[in-house]
Amino acid sequence: MTKTTLSVIKADVGSLAGHHVVHPEQIRVSEESLSAAKLSGLINDFRVTNCGDDLELIMTHRKGEDNSEIHGLAWNTFHKAAAVANELGLYAAGQDLLSDAYSGNLKGMGPGYAEIEFEERKGEPVIVFMADKTEPGAFNLPIYRMFADPFSSAGLVVDPNMHGGFKFQVLDVIEGHSYELNTPEETYDLLALIGTTGRYILKSIRRKSDNLIAAKVSITKLSLIAGRYVGKDDPVAIVRAQHGLPAVGEVLEPFAFPHLVAGWMRGSHYGPLMPVAQKNAKCTRFDGPPRVVGFGFQIKDSKLTGPADLFDDPAFDRTRETACRVADYMRRHGPFMPERLGPEEMEYTTLPQVLEKLKSRLSKE
Ligand code: F6R
Ligand code: MG
Ligand code: MG
Repeated sequence: MTKTTLSVIKADVGSLAGHHVVHPEQIRVSEESLSAAKLSGLINDFRVTNCGDDLELIMTHRKGEDNSEIHGLAWNTFHKAAAVANELGLYAAGQDLLSDAYSGNLKGMGPGYAEIEFEERKGEPVIVFMADKTEPGAFNLPIYRMFADPFSSAGLVVDPNMHGGFKFQVLDVIEGHSYELNTPEETYDLLALIGTTGRYILKSIRRKSDNLIAAKVSITKLSLIAGRYVGKDDPVAIVRAQHGLPAVGEVLEPFAFPHLVAGWMRGSHYGPLMPVAQKNAKCTRFDGPPRVVGFGFQIKDSKLTGPADLFDDPAFDRTRETACRVADYMRRHGPFMPERLGPEEMEYTTLPQVLEKLKSRLSKE
């Protein structure tokens, strides 16, 4: 059986009203670009959407992961959307397009991506998560809970096909290497790593019994790539669901807790991750609070049916209300930690200049 690849590729190439939302004309030109690619047979299907100021290309094809033509298509499409940003005078036009020339792969070029190649099951429910004003480590907690916490995913206890547990690939973004840990037996070791969300990132999950790929997170580290701040690397994730994997409701359950994530204003603060309908994926208050959107699809013969906008549901109203209360509480700390990130994680800082200025006024203690 031929395999399908789902590629979710995103970039912030400029937005309306500061770092707020992608402009409809950018969506239109992107759809036009992907339509042509579908007609030519390069991709089989696509959806274009946005989460705040991030333009998201969701594509199915049969070319596999890290394919040069698919990445090239995304690169060209982002350039077209950036051209619209330039034309309209949108903010931060072309922000995430870090290189001048495309060299065969998007790695290190600025856009973020999550891709999975898999054999379609008879029914193939897939959820695409897209977040704005945060970082890939924001998915550590919810993905851990989906695949390893029986208080969240009942299937870990009662479904024989999940009972064996999962394999977690963890990337150390500082050292640039990764580890594989198994749950439930290495749960405490896993948590010892992924609790440090700025450094150890969950990047993929496989089912232990048959190595089936179950989830992937985009891990592009924009700030490290550029060596300076060029925009928060707002993440995307792909999670397959049902039939021996967490049910859709188990995949969504962890988001009922609006946990604190790094990002928010100037990528330098902790704020609650608020699950929202796509139409509400637009950050306002203190450039936030950080948002996450969940699009559910069925995939058949490499074609997409959907999306179902999964957080567009009153069942998440209380979560959003809690998120607003947490935002109030955190904001009252102003420039103090733990509202402000620690110095090593801040995207903006004046600390070196301040210390330099005070040098001549040092007094020994
Ligand atoms: C955070 C973010 C915004 C900007 C802020 C300042 O990820 O995108 O909070 O950091 O609006 O932006 P500049 O420096 O472009 O004025
Ligand atoms: Mg932006
Ligand atoms: Mg963004």
